[in-house]
Amino acid sequence: MKLRIKPLDAILATAEKKGLHRSLGGFQLTMLGIGAIIGTGIFVLTAEAAQKAGPGMMLSFVIAGFVCAVAALCYSELSSMVPVSGSAYTYTYAVMGELLAWMVGWALVLEYAVAASAVSVGWSGYFVGQLKGWFGIDLPATLVAGPFAGGLVNLPALVIALLVAALLTLGTTESARVNAVLVCIKVAALAAFIVLAVPAMQMDNFTPFMPLGEAGVYGAAASIFFAYVGFDAVSTAAEETRDPQRNVPIGLIGSLGICTLFYILVAAGVIGSPLGAQPVFGAGGEVLSPGSPELADRCRAVAMLSAEPVACSKEALAYVMRTLGYPNFGNLIGLAAFLALPSVILMMLFGQTRIFFVMARDGLLPEALASIHPRWKTPHVVTAITGIAVALFAAFLPVGKLADISNSGTLFAFFMVAIAVMVLRRTDPARARPFRTPALWLVGPLAMVGTVGLYVSLPFDAMMVLPVWGGVGLIFYFLYGYRKSHVGRGQVEVHEEDADVPPRPVPPLPEL
Ligand code: ALA
Repeated sequence: MKLRIKPLDAILATAEKKGLHRSLGGFQLTMLGIGAIIGTGIFVLTAEAAQKAGPGMMLSFVIAGFVCAVAALCYSELSSMVPVSGSAYTYTYAVMGELLAWMVGWALVLEYAVAASAVSVGWSGYFVGQLKGWFGIDLPATLVAGPFAGGLVNLPALVIALLVAALLTLGTTESARVNAVLVCIKVAALAAFIVLAVPAMQMDNFTPFMPLGEAGVYGAAASIFFAYVGFDAVSTAAEETRDPQRNVPIGLIGSLGICTLFYILVAAGVIGSPLGAQPVFGAGGEVLSPGSPELADRCRAVAMLSAEPVACSKEALAYVMRTLGYPNFGNLIGLAAFLALPSVILMMLFGQTRIFFVMARDGLLPEALASIHPRWKTPHVVTAITGIAVALFAAFLPVGKLADISNSGTLFAFFMVAIAVMVLRRTDPARARPFRTPALWLVGPLAMVGTVGLYVSLPFDAMMVLPVWGGVGLIFYFLYGYRKSHVGRGQVEVHEEDADVPPRPVPPLPEL
């Protein structure tokens, strides 16, 4: 079978026609990155990291941040060379052919759609906390958690996912100004947390440092990786950046560096708080996995006797503030998460529709999926389907499981990007690279080893989702995409306007 490669020049011609204005500088890129990065990971999954690693979760944050940093450097080179939509999918199409591109695009569904579900569930925890904290209203436990986490259905998560999908269908995009305000709110909340929690740290709480050993630290790193996802927003903005060689790495490394620093300090504050961050063990001393009904039962039992452990909390940061004696600050931190998390859901859902859109435009998915609504000018079909799927996952699965599944897809995509950038250096060395990954032959292999290392540290079920999902994808590809692919049919079209920007107006798709 001949490798079906979409020529880079055709992809670049698309980008040239799009011709975005280069207006972003290093500072704006950093803001963009922080806006996409800070979300459910730090506000919610800190509790799960504590359950997996205990105080050693501080190391987990460092490991996950490092893997993201080397992957980010690889992303930047490709995104500055191929600054068009579709991210890892498009790069792979140009470098390693259609089959692998399809697999990457298919894995990105896990990254974006499932991440949107995870952030919806994270938001739900803070919504419930807000109702209780400000108004004393307790929602029935069966309606605020899915069946795996000791409830029936997570209604708030379901509703927020549908609401955000509806907003996207109507054509809402997040403006730079709204993003800047939300970034300030998030950063202020984390900064306030650090200022109050770090000086009050009780150092005894740091021992035992790794109650579940190194495996626990790696396991927590694989899960907390989710907290860093989103920085690719910076690399995809390369085309709109002034002097990308200088500013893209500033934006990427700046936003990742700032978030890593904040995350480590927040983790230290959580560990040092009066409740500590030791994992909750079963009555017989057995290890309980986060998001399991067994842990939910055990948490209920423990909470009746003493204060609820941090590892049980669904709004960890707000909860720690309250136990430190700042109930109103706790509520305010909760309010910050409540306000800011929906924008992360919006970005993830938006990313998903963008990937579907580009794949459908290449003929690999039915083009009806990417049809544009005549009035709202948005890809309403794909947004509705994605929104409903995201809402259902959010309604029934626990946040940690969703984050782990999302991570498995993201890690695969990062791994492929690391390979793609090295292959392209060899096969097309002369092409202009506005940004070159420094020390690529060190950074690229490190990104590959790091992503594989985190992948194999994921829980077994989350790890298995990737090959199963991949298998379904392969069947779909050979039944549909292989025959319908535009590249396979010898059509390499250059699009007038890059349709990566639903919800902005986009032209109708070409007929097959
Ligand atoms: N990094 C994003 C979050 O933690 C996805 O919500």
